[in-house]
Amino acid sequence: MKGIPEAIFQRRAVKVFEPVEISEGMREQILNAARHAPSSFNAQPYRFYWVETAKEKTVVTKLCLGQMPAQTASALLIAVADLESLTATSQRQLEWMRSRSEFSEEKIRDYERTAKIGRILFMPGPFGIFGAMKWGLFWLLNLWKVMGMPPTSRQDLFKWATKSTSLACENLMIAAEALGINTCPMEGFDGRRLSKYLGLSARYHEIVMVIAIGKKSRAYVEPPQWRRPLDATVTIL
Ligand SMILES: Cc1cc2nc3c(=O)[nH]c(=O)nc-3n(C[C@H](O)[C@H](O)[C@H](O)COP(=O)(O)O)c2cc1C
Repeated sequence: MKGIPEAIFQRRAVKVFEPVEISEGMREQILNAARHAPSSFNAQPYRFYWVETAKEKTVVTKLCLGQMPAQTASALLIAVADLESLTATSQRQLEWMRSRSEFSEEKIRDYERTAKIGRILFMPGPFGIFGAMKWGLFWLLNLWKVMGMPPTSRQDLFKWATKSTSLACENLMIAAEALGINTCPMEGFDGRRLSKYLGLSARYHEIVMVIAIGKKSRAYVEPPQWRRPLDATVTIL
């Protein structure tokens, strides 16, 4: 395994892979790395679909517009921002806390209360009516109080979930690189058809990206990597 900084600096979006099998152990390691990423409220608002059988890959590749990384990858990872999982996740965390001696009754009650408030804050309600009311209320409060704005509309919620999903994706790509395999994140896909194929609901799910995973083809020559210089990227205050 490479060191993490080495994996970060060596990772490239690889466009052509050669056929290799990704072992179950390796699959588990890179998926584990993904779910160890930080997430807002530790809500882990995502679900990953790992596509490896030839039949499924052919369908998904077509929905990834036939892109070369998808065509040649050993596996395709579809990262989905998942709002449906939120209640079950906080319930599971609560059960986990109850099973551990480190958490006092008071801590558990605190978490229960926060989870309940979170559920109310994060609920856009039918036709987004509740979300619009919340937005108005928080906007007024913010006129005199320093405060963060919770996601109010469904669009805000997806934006919120996409941040944590993207961090998980980056963890996955770095872990893959450290283990000697390569990746290409892809936004070029037919989201409507791919969602339908996976049986997702537009109310709760949004595909964030598809990641092609495999071993870089020996014949593939990467273009030099360009980045803006630091002073064009960073403001130091
Ligand atoms: C969100 C996102 C979407 C991307 N979509 C595609 C894509 O659809 N097809 C593709 O070939 N590369 C895609 N890329 C890869 C970028 O083109 C690539 O990361 C960028 O050019 C920098 O190259 P490097 O990662 O090798 O440094 C995507 C990257 C990101 C982060």
